[in-house]
Amino acid sequence: IEINNTEKSSDVVWHQQSVTAEQKSQLKGHQAVLLWYTGLSGSGKSTVANAVEQKLLERGCHSYLLDGDNVRHGLNNDLGFTDEDRIENIRRIGEVAKLFVDAGLLVSTAFISPFQKDRDQARALLKDALFLEVFIDTPLDVCESRDPKGLYKKARAGEIANFTGISSAYEAPEAAEIHIETAHLSIEQCADLVIDALIKKQIIK
Ligand code: PPS
Repeated sequence: IEINNTEKSSDVVWHQQSVTAEQKSQLKGHQAVLLWYTGLSGSGKSTVANAVEQKLLERGCHSYLLDGDNVRHGLNNDLGFTDEDRIENIRRIGEVAKLFVDAGLLVSTAFISPFQKDRDQARALLKDALFLEVFIDTPLDVCESRDPKGLYKKARAGEIANFTGISSAYEAPEAAEIHIETAHLSIEQCADLVIDALIKKQIIK
């Protein structure tokens, strides 16, 4: 509040001072960023993202994870798995994630996000340095052998339509900032690769 001390001393001028994302980052002691995980169903996106969040917490970093549970059951519960619905799913997630990045957080999204164009659109919502694509690279046969939810079995039996990798496309990233081949790594090692990348890029200390 700045009081104009002239003859109109009762005038009060409100300075609409906006708090910038940079100022919020300084407050938290780390940069804000969006870690955009992508990979097949059962590739380990949520598992790795959760392990990374745990490590960030231990380092005193403020993170937020957007994944199927809090998005497809809520905000996007009107969407299914046609190409059109997946595109809208990812568009909304990109917009929501951007808000959390604006709030100064280390944000992770863990969705198949099968189409490069949609991932690029999410990237375009943010300044370049604020978006890191994390490719959870697990071959289809490995995902299928894990089949944690029994969905591949159902998809092969024709009981689920448009299943990624079986009857719906997955476009693997060609230039992801972080590329994790999970087949021969522990969850711990996968999470460390992400943390190391964040340190190297001076996003966290
Ligand atoms: S997408 O493509 O990004 O919109 O998908 P996403 O929101 O990540 O949802 C994927 C999870 O939904 C379950 N599921 C399916 N996946 C792929 N194809 C079809 N048809 C399908 N139907 C249901 C599945 O459990 C996915 O979870 P994850 O964690 O990826 O295995």
